[in-house]
Amino acid sequence: MRRRSGRTRLTGVAAVTLACPLAACGPGDEAADSRVDGEYAYTVRCSYCHDVPNGIGAELTPRVLAAYSTVGALDSYLRFAMPQETPGSLPPEEYQAILAYLIESRELVEDGGDALELPPSTELRVIATASPGTER
Ligand code: HEC
Repeated sequence: MRRRSGRTRLTGVAAVTLACPLAACGPGDEAADSRVDGEYAYTVRCSYCHDVPNGIGAELTPRVLAAYSTVGALDSYLRFAMPQETPGSLPPEEYQAILAYLIESRELVEDGGDALELPPSTELRVIATASPGTER
């Protein structure tokens, strides 16, 4: 036996859920927020070679990345050489987001703020001595 009032409430919930793709999550919204999530992009595009045991790419420690000296040099390298099997294949905004994610997560720039805004001449350094992988 169903209770009419319960059904009405459920219908209400369904209507709210359906409203999301039409309003808040619609295509207009995506266009407004086109910033790529660098951590997500890195996970999808890079980590299967660089962040797995016995992966074919080196672990991307602060020391490895800081060896590129500047933001611009690391940027050029990534765009020119990675992903290794299809270099240059990513959209520019993904390279940018991944670069920013690596700089922030590996702490390569002191007081760097938003890594997307750093000028190419910004020097990369190993700042965090205790972060994972720095002993390498
Ligand atoms: C198919 C596997 C693969 C993928 C995917 C891949 N890499 Fe690599 N990566 C490698 C290999 C192998 C090397 C070392 C050999 C070389 O220089 O080609 C390397 C080298 C590097 C280096 C230089 C490391 C050093 O020791 O100087 C960096 C930085 C790097 N990759 C970043 C990335 C980033 C960021 C991505 C994602 C956009 C990515 N890689 C995707 C395999 C991969």
